Amino acid sequence: MSETVKYLLSEDRIPKAWYNLAADLPVPLPPPLHPGTGQVIGPDDLAPIFPKAVIEQEVSTERWIDIPEPVRDVYRLWRPAPLIRARALEKALDTPAKLYFKYEGVSPAGSHKPNTAVPQAFYNKQEGITRLSTETGAGQWGSSLAFAGSLFGIEVEVYMVKVSYQQKPYRRALMETYGATCIASPSNLTQAGRDILAKDPNSNGSLGIAISEAVEVAASRSDTNYALGSVLNHVCLHQTIIGEEAILQMEMAGDQPDIVIACTGGGSNFAGLAFPYIREKIKGSKVRIIGVEPASCPTLTRGRYAYDYGDTGRLTPMVKMHTLGSTFMPPGSHSGGLRYHGMAPMVSHVKELGLMEARAYHQTECFAAAARFARAEGIVPAPESSHAIKGAIDEALRCKVEGRAETILFNLSGHGHFDMQAYTDHFSGKLIDPTFNQSALDIALSELPNVG
Ligand SMILES: Cc1ncc(COP(=O)(O)O)c(C=O)c1O
Repeated sequence: MSETVKYLLSEDRIPKAWYNLAADLPVPLPPPLHPGTGQVIGPDDLAPIFPKAVIEQEVSTERWIDIPEPVRDVYRLWRPAPLIRARALEKALDTPAKLYFKYEGVSPAGSHKPNTAVPQAFYNKQEGITRLSTETGAGQWGSSLAFAGSLFGIEVEVYMVKVSYQQKPYRRALMETYGATCIASPSNLTQAGRDILAKDPNSNGSLGIAISEAVEVAASRSDTNYALGSVLNHVCLHQTIIGEEAILQMEMAGDQPDIVIACTGGGSNFAGLAFPYIREKIKGSKVRIIGVEPASCPTLTRGRYAYDYGDTGRLTPMVKMHTLGSTFMPPGSHSGGLRYHGMAPMVSHVKELGLMEARAYHQTECFAAAARFARAEGIVPAPESSHAIKGAIDEALRCKVEGRAETILFNLSGHGHFDMQAYTDHFSGKLIDPTFNQSALDIALSELPNVG
C-alpha cells in the first residue's frame, strides 16, 4: 500500500478555541508601556484604535479562548489546513529524518495571515467599526485583511512598504480586487509619512514606518480602527489554530515532532505553530523549537532584549522585545514580511526563557532551499517561508550525518505565486546578500528609549 502523504482533518475538527500561552508561562510577560508617559498602559489607552474584544484578548491569561462561530464558519473556506509529509524531499535529501510541514498557503490570500485577519475584522464589525487601516510588508497581510474586510463589509486602507509596493504590483491588485485601497509608504497622506519623506525623499519604507502611518490614521478618525498582522499577543493567539491542528494531525500520522521550525518576521506564524508545542515543552517534552530569521534583519540573533516602540514614528506603546531599534532601516530584501525591527514580545520572552532557539540565514541560501523544495514537493514557497525550509533541510542533513531518524515539523506559512520576480532574480544571479551594517545597528540601539 502507498504511504500517506497528506493528513487531513474534517471541517468539524477545526479547533473550537485558540490557545493562550500566557496562561502557562513560568514568568509573566513584562507589561506594555505608554509611549508618552512610560507608565504601564491599561485597556483604555488602546481603546481609540482596537475593539474591546481584541484588547481583552491582548491582556488575557485564560488558557483557552473560544473561537466565535462566525469566524469558524469563514475558517471552513480553507481550514483545517493540510499537514503534509515531505516524502519526496526526504528522498531527495537521502535523509533518515522524517519531514512534515503544515501548509498555510491554502488560504484565499495565500498565507497564515487570514487566521487573524478574519477574527480581527469580525470583532471590529461587531463593535460598529466601518474602516480599518493597516500596514503590509510583502503584501500577504494587506491582502488578508482586504479579504476579511470584504467578507464583513469593512473598508480597508493598506499602507504598503514602498519597496514591496514596487516589487509586487499583483499583491496590490489582489487587495484592490477585494475592494481595499493600497498606498505606497511612506506617503504624504500622514504626518509620519511626510516627516520621513522630508528627511529622505527616496525612502524605501519599512514596516515600522508603515505602522506609524496606519496608526496615525486610526487614531485620528473615529470610524477607523487599526489592525496589526503580527507581533501583538492577540495575533499570536489567533495563529495557534495552526499548532492545535498540527497536534491532531501528527497524532493521525502516529508521530511526534522532535523539532518544530518556523520563520520569524514579527513572530506570528512561529507562535501559531510553536506555542502549542511550547505548552508541551513547559510540561516536560524534549521538543526543540527553532525560529529562523533573515541575516539582513536578525532581530532574535543580534537584537537587544529591551523596551522599544513598535513603529518608527514612536506612536505605539513600548513593549519589551528583541529589537534592532525602531529607527533601524533593514536593507531591501525579497522577504518583505521578515523585514521588521522588532519581534513579538511573547516570542522574545520565550527566547529569554530558553524555550526556543534562533538562527539567521542569508536570502540566497533560502531561495536555493526553496527551489529544492519546489522541485521535490511541487509547492513554490513564499520567500519568508523559505527560511523555515532552509532550517528544516539543514536539520534533516544533520540527521543524515548523525544517522538519526528525527521527526521535523515546519510551517510553510505561504505560497510564493506573487513573488516570482524574486525567483527570477535569484535564478539570474541578481540577488545579493547585503552585508549587515553593524554601525547602523549600534546607532539605532543607542536611540532606544530610556526605560528604567
Ligand atoms: C508568508 C509569510 N510568512 C511569514 C511572514 C512573517 O510574519 P510573521 O513572523 O508574523 O509570521 C509573512 C509576513 O508577511 C508572510 O507573508
